[in-house]
Amino acid sequence: VIICHCAVVGDRQVAEAVRQGVTTTAQLCRTTGAGQDCGSCVFAVRRALCDHRAAATEQAVVQTVGVDVAAS
Ligand code: FES
Repeated sequence: VIICHCAVVGDRQVAEAVRQGVTTTAQLCRTTGAGQDCGSCVFAVRRALCDHRAAATEQAVVQTVGVDVAAS
């Protein structure tokens, strides 16, 4: 799914950026190029960042604790 049409940045690129340690919207925009032209995608970019950060945090908890919170 394309999130930023100006820079053609999709959900996969956001997920990869989060895996590489991006934690803020500004970092994500600098890293991927999203949100730096018309700016209409910034809220969608932020939402995608939050979704992927939450998923990454949940996965880290599962790996650390060994319990799948979503499955329990
Ligand atoms: S749609 Fe992202 S900057 Fe225009």
